[in-house]
Parts: sequence; C-alpha cells; structure tokens
Amino acid sequence: MKLKDKVAVIVGGANGIGKRTSKLFAREGAKVLIADIGIEAAEAVAKEIRTVEHQDVIAFKVDHTKEEETFKMVKFALDKFGQIDILANIAGTHGYVEEGKFIRKDEGPFAESSKALWDSTIDINLNGARNCIRAVVNHMMERRKGRIINFSSVAAFQGAPGLAAYSAAKGGIISLTKALAVELAPYGIIINCVIPSATATEQVMERINGMRKSGQPALDLNMFASPEELANVVLWLASDDVSHMSGQSIQMGIDYPKH
Ligand SMILES: NC(=O)c1ccc[n+]([C@@H]2O[C@H](COP(=O)([O-])OP(=O)(O)OC[C@H]3O[C@@H](n4cnc5c(N)ncnc54)[C@H](O)[C@@H]3O)[C@@H](O)[C@H]2O)c1
Repeated sequence: MKLKDKVAVIVGGANGIGKRTSKLFAREGAKVLIADIGIEAAEAVAKEIRTVEHQDVIAFKVDHTKEEETFKMVKFALDKFGQIDILANIAGTHGYVEEGKFIRKDEGPFAESSKALWDSTIDINLNGARNCIRAVVNHMMERRKGRIINFSSVAAFQGAPGLAAYSAAKGGIISLTKALAVELAPYGIIINCVIPSATATEQVMERINGMRKSGQPALDLNMFASPEELANVVLWLASDDVSHMSGQSIQMGIDYPKH
C-alpha cells in the first residue's frame, strides 16, 4: 500500500478524476476527506468507499472559492484525523457558484463575455486552489512535510476559442505550483501539478454526447485519457516514490508535431 496511514484531503473528490482519486487513495491505505461543493455526490462516494475498501473516509461540503470555508475544511480534517499529509486540489471546471451550488456554464466568446463569469472562472480554477493551500500550509510547515497536487489543463498553453478565463486560470496554477515549490521546499513540502488533456469523465462525456446529438463532428475517444489513469498520476505524486521533484507539471496527452 502506497499511502498506508496517510491522510488526504481531496478537493473536488465527488466526481470525475477526483472521485477516482478518492477511491484509489483509500485502496492504497489513506484516510480520505472528500471535500466538494456537491455534498450529496461526495457522501455517495464516501459511502461506496467505506463499503468496498473498509477505509476511514468522510465527506465534507466546501466551496473552495471561499477562504473561510477552506479553513473550516482543514479544521474538520484535523479534528477527525489529527493530521493532513496530502492535499489534492482537483476541483475546477467551467461555471460559477450560486447559493452554495456549482452551476456549469461555458464562457462563450470573449467579445461577449462578462466580468462576473471571468471572476467566477478564476475563482473556481485558481483562487480555490490558493485558498486550500493557504488553509493547510501552516500545518504542513509545522510538521515539516506535506504533499500538494494541483490541477491545470492543456488549455493553459494550447489556447482555444471560448476558454480565455479558464486558460488564464490554469496557466496561473502552473506558476503558483512553481513559486510555492521554491518557497515551501525548506519546510519539506513537495508541490506538483497535473496537466490533463481530454479525459473521459462523466461531465466531458455528457458534452460529447450532446455534440453528437446536435450533429457536430464526433471526437475520437481513443484520444481521451481515462480518469483512472489521471488518478494514478496523482497517486504517484502523493506517494513516497516521489521525493526529489517539486514545482513540476506533468502533461498528459501527446504533443503532435504541427506541419
Ligand atoms: N476532464 C477533462 O477533460 C479535463 C481536461 C483538462 C483539465 N481538467 C481539469 O481536471 C480537474 C478535474 O476535472 P473533471 O473532469 O474530473 O471535473 P468534474 O467536473 O467531473 O469534477 C469537478 C468537481 O469539482 C467540484 N467543484 C466545482 N466547484 C467547486 C467549488 N467551488 N468548491 C468545491 N468543489 C467544487 C464539482 O462538484 C465536481 O465534483 C479540473 O480541475 C479540470 O479543470 C479536466
């Protein structure tokens, strides 16, 4: 078991890559706090893991765009488990938060964009991770150890129409990872980042099925990673197999040469 007796807080752990990571971490012996704005889904995943893996897993409702909620999340995890070894910042996507609920929404053309949707996209994809790290960092500094794994996207450097705020936020995550790796290295804290390319999570498949129904060209699903593969990358970064690598961003997918 790669994470025996470790405690992990998985933000965005109720769906997609986060859900697979929660399950895999529990299988590898970790105690897991599944922190997500979607508490019903988080509780369902926690229940499933407890039944299958017999591990200490608990769900917690957090809107990681609100700093005070991330401090409550960390306090809850510490009260429950006594320590936090790993923070995985997986929550992120297109949309905004309203009355404690995440609402999915595409950005659309920049020329028609609103400042409100820009701000909420930066909140969900950059500021949220910042808040979670800020909430846990003093605990990790005191223990002189800790693992943090952030989530970017290939949108950070490939660019795509209708993704200006998301791309900017995901670029920011790579820079945040680099900056904090240097600042936190003296405290034994290792922080790295995963850059997924297209990954076949439920929300992505829903989009693709919608595109197909509306007659748009079908995407080649062979080009998609499985969320399980991404969870394996997070596990590797969180495990003791990695000890001399920090500030790095691991890109998934294939960089085809451009002709
Ligand atoms: N799936 C892909 O193709 C893909 C590609 C590139 C990057 N990514 C990145 O990978 C990560 C995971 O993607 P996914 O497809 O598994 O996402 P997903 O939408 O399936 O899951 C995201 C989770 O984040 C939670 N969340 C949203 N807002 C939140 C908030 N304010 N506070 C707490 N939780 C919140 C959601 O409830 C959900 O459980 C994201 O950061 C995403 O941007 C995904």
